[in-house]
Amino acid sequence: MVSRLRLGVLISGRGSNLAALIEACADPAFPAEIACVLSNRPEARGLDIAREAGLPARAIDHKAHESRESFEAELDRALRAADVGLVCSAGFMRVLTAGFTRAWEGRMINIHPSLLPSFPGLHPQAQALAAGVKVSGCTVHYVTADVDAGPIVAQAAVPVLAGDDEDSLAARILKAEHKLYPRAVRLIADGRVRIEGQVAVVDERE
Ligand code: GAR
Repeated sequence: MVSRLRLGVLISGRGSNLAALIEACADPAFPAEIACVLSNRPEARGLDIAREAGLPARAIDHKAHESRESFEAELDRALRAADVGLVCSAGFMRVLTAGFTRAWEGRMINIHPSLLPSFPGLHPQAQALAAGVKVSGCTVHYVTADVDAGPIVAQAAVPVLAGDDEDSLAARILKAEHKLYPRAVRLIADGRVRIEGQVAVVDERE
C-alpha cells in the first residue's frame, strides 16, 4: 500500500476543521492520515474530538512556557516525534516565529476565513462586512513568516448577503472551509502542488 501523508493538526479551540479532516482521512482512499493533534489550549474542544476519534492528541500550553521559542521547540519536537510530513493549522491562534515557519516552510499550511490577500489577521469576517464586499470566502495557504501571506493552494467563495452579521457570514464561510481544507490536503498529498516563489502552482487535472 502506498504510504499516506502524515498530518500534524494544530488547533486552539472548537476543532470543526479538524473534524472535517478526520472525516476525510477516514476514507482509506484519502492520501493523508492524521498523525497527531496538538493544541496550545488545554481546554480546546477539538482535543476531545481528536480523542473520540482515537487520535493521539495533546495540549502544549503556551502559557506554561516562558518564551515563544521554548513553546515552539516543544511543538517542533512533538511534530517530529510523530513523523509529520505536513502541518495543518486549523484554527490555531498563535502567531509563529520566523524560526518555526522557516523550519516547516513548504510543509505547513493554514486555513483562513477570507479570500486572501484581502482581510488577513483577526476578525476577517467583520473586516469583510466593514468593507462592503459582496463575495468573501476562505483560503488555504502555505505558512510563511508573514502572517496570512504565503502561497495560496486553494480558495472557495461564498456570497455576502444583505443583513449578514459577523456570525452568519462566519457560519457560511465555515461550511465552505470544511470542504476546502480536505481538498487542499488531497492536492498536496497527491503531489499536485509546487511552489514557485510566491505562487503555489496547482495541477487541478481530474
Ligand atoms: C476557522 O474559521 C478558521 O478559518 C479560523 O478559525 C476558525 C476555527 O474554527 N482561523 C483563523 O482565523 C486563523 N487566522 P474551528 O476550530 O472550528 O476549525
